[in-house]
Amino acid sequence: MKKVTINTLIAWKQEGRKFASVTAYDASFAQLFEQQQMPVLLVGDSLGMVLQGKNDTLSVTIDEIAYHTRSVRAGSPNSFLMADMPFMSYATPEQACQNAAKLMSAGANMVKLEGGDWLVDSVKMLTERAVPVCAHLGLTPQSVNVFGGFKVQGRDQAAAEKMVADALALEKAGAQVIVLECVPVALAEQITKSVSIPVIGIGAGNVTDGQILVMHDMFGISANYMPRFSKNYLAVAGDMREAVSRYIAEVESGEFPSPDHTFN
Ligand code: KIV
Ligand code: NA
Repeated sequence: MKKVTINTLIAWKQEGRKFASVTAYDASFAQLFEQQQMPVLLVGDSLGMVLQGKNDTLSVTIDEIAYHTRSVRAGSPNSFLMADMPFMSYATPEQACQNAAKLMSAGANMVKLEGGDWLVDSVKMLTERAVPVCAHLGLTPQSVNVFGGFKVQGRDQAAAEKMVADALALEKAGAQVIVLECVPVALAEQITKSVSIPVIGIGAGNVTDGQILVMHDMFGISANYMPRFSKNYLAVAGDMREAVSRYIAEVESGEFPSPDHTFN
């Protein structure tokens, strides 16, 4: 696979070409994903749930994300690799810089932070210091105790308007990608059209520029529950490599996510 960079993703947004991405935590799966031409990988703090069996992501540490980032980079030299900043690792801009450095030196191309316009100073500080940033909006799982559960976000008018404003503020601060999780499809479409940076959705309908799934959900093997917006491609394809290429093809064609996997 040819090396994928932020410029590749921006060009795809401009061309209206949809792209797939998936989480990865180790070298073997990272290699399999790259062999199937998966352009973007994320070392997600979802590893607290799917690898460690916890009920949420809050106990994941920066050193754990760095460890898995090194493994994924070893297996996939050419994907665009994002890595999650875990809970409380970016409480201040200074902490964000110190911790992001660990992920960048482990091989990440971009770090992902959960939150709205309160992140503006951190995003500026990181991007000015050459750390590319992805901002994660909507259902931000590190806020599960604030939300009172893993619930769809942005359902009422005020919350939807706030999310659009957050996306614009984060883009202006220097964020180069947005992840939108569990939001109504109309809101996802509005945000995707409002910003010029690529938007990657999960539980946000087929209107975003890219899609992402947790790899264990894509294979239907998660220790936790299977979210409604996910699809078990291994069950459909019967083979891991075939499952991955089927997922990529269905994202590119717009077939996934279907209305069954979408919130209105
Ligand atoms: O941790 C994760 O896997 C994520 C994706 C679901 C976007 O943040
Ligand atoms: Na995450």
